[in-house]
Amino acid sequence: MRTHKSTGLDAGTAAGSAKPAALELRDVHMVYRGAVPVHSLRGVNLTLARGESAAVVGPSGSGKSTLLHLAAGLDRPTGGQVRIAGASLAGLSDAALSGLRARHVGVVFQQFFLMERLTAVENVAAGLLYRGTRSSIRITAAHQALKTVGLAHRASHRAAELSGGERQRVAIARALVGRPTLILADEPTGNLDSANGARVMELLHRLHEAGAALLVITHDRDIAAAMPRRVEVRDGLIISDSRAAIARNTGEAANTQNTQDTVNAENTGRHQ
Ligand SMILES: Nc1ncnc2c1ncn2[C@@H]1O[C@H](COP(=O)(O)OP(=O)(O)OP(=O)(O)O)[C@@H](O)[C@H]1O
Ligand SMILES: [Mg+2]
Repeated sequence: MRTHKSTGLDAGTAAGSAKPAALELRDVHMVYRGAVPVHSLRGVNLTLARGESAAVVGPSGSGKSTLLHLAAGLDRPTGGQVRIAGASLAGLSDAALSGLRARHVGVVFQQFFLMERLTAVENVAAGLLYRGTRSSIRITAAHQALKTVGLAHRASHRAAELSGGERQRVAIARALVGRPTLILADEPTGNLDSANGARVMELLHRLHEAGAALLVITHDRDIAAAMPRRVEVRDGLIISDSRAAIARNTGEAANTQNTQDTVNAENTGRHQ
């Protein structure tokens, strides 16, 4: 099994560096309004340092995808603070938020979300649309990104003509083409067989090794076990986070109670 280095960082700002965390959620709440409002997140605190990687696990309906949507700036929280690369979403106009996402975030979903009629290279180039990059440069970068995921030979195929594994690799190319600070993946292997799933995870790990912070939602125990940090969500709250144990790094098995105390402290704001 591959090994991963942990940053072991504890604060929102990386120690010894002026760079803010890739992602910071502070007392984040999300209520979906409707006939029956759903309180999907109920006070989540989570910091992902630059270059850190973590798995998010938890039962169906616990709030994992909600958390990822907020972390990606695709939704705004109904309470609390979300910061992406140090920038708070709170005061941003929709256009400024799109710009922030385009500069800093790459997202990969279980269902790929490609534009079926567009070619692979056009789909990837779309990842640079909101950055104001010139069309010719977008296309060149998209070809390079497709090469990175091993799909140079499929560049001019329409998304609809690609296999599931190929589609997900196009989605990864689209996520990486802007060299994001933060890569968020929601069940990226959920629709793939094990061989294609392993290839997708390998690509995501390579992006992480190249410097991006990586947050992967997964139901796959093996994938979660291979990540250096595991965050467990239940009923809209983070109920455990292995990072506290990693930071102590005593070389012994994690002390579950201490880990839990630290998580509780972070989730009630006592560590701020
Ligand atoms: N757009 C929405 N409108 C109303 N309720 C929503 C919406 N999106 C999610 N929810 C509700 O919020 C809760 C958390 O949903 P979420 O999709 O975050 O769960 P999840 O942990 O990702 O689950 P799964 O593992 O099944 O994907 C669920 O009860 C869900 O029904
Ligand atoms: Mg989900």
